[in-house]
Amino acid sequence: MILSIESSCDDSSIAITAIDTLELIFHKKISQEIQHSFYGGVVPELAARLHIEALPLILKECEKYFSSLKAIAVTTAPGLSVTLSEGVMMAKALSIALSIPLISVNHLKGHIYSCFIEEKTKFPMTILLVSGGHTQIIEATNLHNMKIIGQTSDDSFGESFDKVAKMLNLGYPGGPAIEDKGKIGDKESYDFPIPLRQSPNIEFSFSGLKNAVRLAVLKEEELGSLNDKTIANICASFQHTAINHILMKLKKYFKIQSPTKFAIVGGASANIYLREECEKLCKSYNCELILAPIEFCSDNAAMIGRVAIEQYLQKDFTALEKIDVQSRIKS
Ligand code: KG4
Ligand code: ZN
Repeated sequence: MILSIESSCDDSSIAITAIDTLELIFHKKISQEIQHSFYGGVVPELAARLHIEALPLILKECEKYFSSLKAIAVTTAPGLSVTLSEGVMMAKALSIALSIPLISVNHLKGHIYSCFIEEKTKFPMTILLVSGGHTQIIEATNLHNMKIIGQTSDDSFGESFDKVAKMLNLGYPGGPAIEDKGKIGDKESYDFPIPLRQSPNIEFSFSGLKNAVRLAVLKEEELGSLNDKTIANICASFQHTAINHILMKLKKYFKIQSPTKFAIVGGASANIYLREECEKLCKSYNCELILAPIEFCSDNAAMIGRVAIEQYLQKDFTALEKIDVQSRIKS
């Protein structure tokens, strides 16, 4: 079995996965959403302190499996350096105490493998990765051969939901809150501009849309008409425009490449509207749509463990003194 640890942002999670059968033997996650909600986003130092409390609590429940462990896997990049370090320190301690090797796992590869928890992989495929830190179209033929075809030049898809939710005082994370409010709103009520509509490139941008929403919110505030109905309408119109942007670029990509397998992964892949629109697109191209179960869309250690099995079989271990974290700067 492999024990995997995830602490790249605001979820403390540990999983235990069987190497031979891919069975997920243990999986637990403690989220910090409520604590960060007060600030409208993740506060790195607070997140690190909360990992220090949560990770040992979960680890205690894993003690009975210690004698069966063959390796310790841990997310090392990308993420917040102060929170990644908490997971890495625990992984190093376990590796020394149990005399087993360390596996350094890339968080984004984890999201891709979230489609294959307890299942065999289905490469080659094209992937839409939509999370709080990334928005990318990736072509993957195996674990090591992954090519970024297009990505965002500013905010990510999930991040734009978080920022719009902050403007509307809807708390953190913004994605589920906006999706929920948007259900009772009219998606045509605000005519927000679809980003990069004229650009022939496969690329994304969400900062212009975010600013258009900011101006609409300010206008409603000035008019004294920012109420439940207008908030729901803003949420529905923003979500509709953000997803339309993704869809327009995907249509461009499908027209050129016509993939046979297409996956949507990352925390924001839980968005039902996005899933439904991608389903329609895939149907029209006779392409298989691969989705992770909703519970494995947001950050979790099960997906890290799933990647780690592949790395274990390839003996892709990292020496204790070489393991390091790679941070990303959040705007
Ligand atoms: O993958 P994830 O858990 O963490 C990162 O690796 O960043 O993704 C979290 C992001 C947040 O920005 C959150 O607002 C967004 O995913 N998200 C959603 C939805 N659920 C989560 N965005 C849009 N619609 C959703 N239903
Ligand atoms: Zn993530």
